Amino acid sequence: MNQISVIGAGLMGSQIAMCAAFSGFKVHLYDVDEQRLLTSQQQLSKQMEKYIKKGLFTEEQFEQAKNNLVLETSLSTAVEQADLVIEAIVEDLSLKRNLFQQLDELAPEHAILATNSSMIVSSMLASSTTRPDKVCNIHFFNPVFLMAVVEVVKGAHTSHETAQAAVDFVTRIHKTPLLLQKEITGFIANRILTKVMEEAMFLLEEGVATVEEIDLACTKALNHPIGPFALMDLTGLDTAYAIQKTQFELEDDAKEPSPLLKEKLAHGQLGRKTGQGFYTYQ
Ligand code: NAI
Repeated sequence: MNQISVIGAGLMGSQIAMCAAFSGFKVHLYDVDEQRLLTSQQQLSKQMEKYIKKGLFTEEQFEQAKNNLVLETSLSTAVEQADLVIEAIVEDLSLKRNLFQQLDELAPEHAILATNSSMIVSSMLASSTTRPDKVCNIHFFNPVFLMAVVEVVKGAHTSHETAQAAVDFVTRIHKTPLLLQKEITGFIANRILTKVMEEAMFLLEEGVATVEEIDLACTKALNHPIGPFALMDLTGLDTAYAIQKTQFELEDDAKEPSPLLKEKLAHGQLGRKTGQGFYTYQ
């Protein structure tokens, strides 16, 4: 496996692409929004500057990685030589199904088609392709460079070879693969996390405690590295909402996204990316 294509240059796709480029893969990064492709480069550069200052990478490594990364404005060019395609577009089942159908037509026959979805199991996307055996979940965590684990989910439709190739890829980008042998909405980490977030939102809405206090309880009493509200701000409240809405649509016992989250979206408060979410950012 040498050529990777990443579809969607948002928060996750741009980091996944750069992470693979750092490990020597040739990466083609495509987004339907050309402006987004350009801003993703600026955001990545800022992020890398911080990591270089912290000594995580050298300037030379970053320059080499940039040489491995090609920005694409045509989907067909982006995937025509791919061995592995990682989809990281917005959390919307019908958009993803539509994209998988196009990827099936455009990517080489041997290419694996993987999704970075937070909730959606790959069987729901595999059915819009003619290669279900080559479809799986490869689920990264944010920030991609710092998070050590990547979930790989093998559905009943996924071949052993595909799951193994996904695991090998994760290992080659210096992450620890967590292979799930069975599909389940939200996989492992997000199933646990959504319960924490639901309860945090309930406590806030009931007026039991403030955002800061609930986050403090999680960081200092439970020893979580980040509180649920700070994490939602980091994820992006639009994405956090889309993830919860998807879970609500897919699971009988899941709760609807909180009205408070909807209110924040209506005011354009999307978290760190807009400077205002549950917290205010400079
Ligand atoms: P984002 O909103 O930052 O980026 C999504 C990108 O997809 C945008 O740049 C948009 O222009 C592009 N896009 C939309 N439709 C497209 C199409 N048809 N073709 C190509 N590009 C298209 O979202 P983010 O946060 O990067 O999430 C992407 C996926 O990763 C979602 O499925 C999300 O559930 C998942 N995810 C998100 C995490 C997070 O912390 N934000 C963590 C792990 C997974």
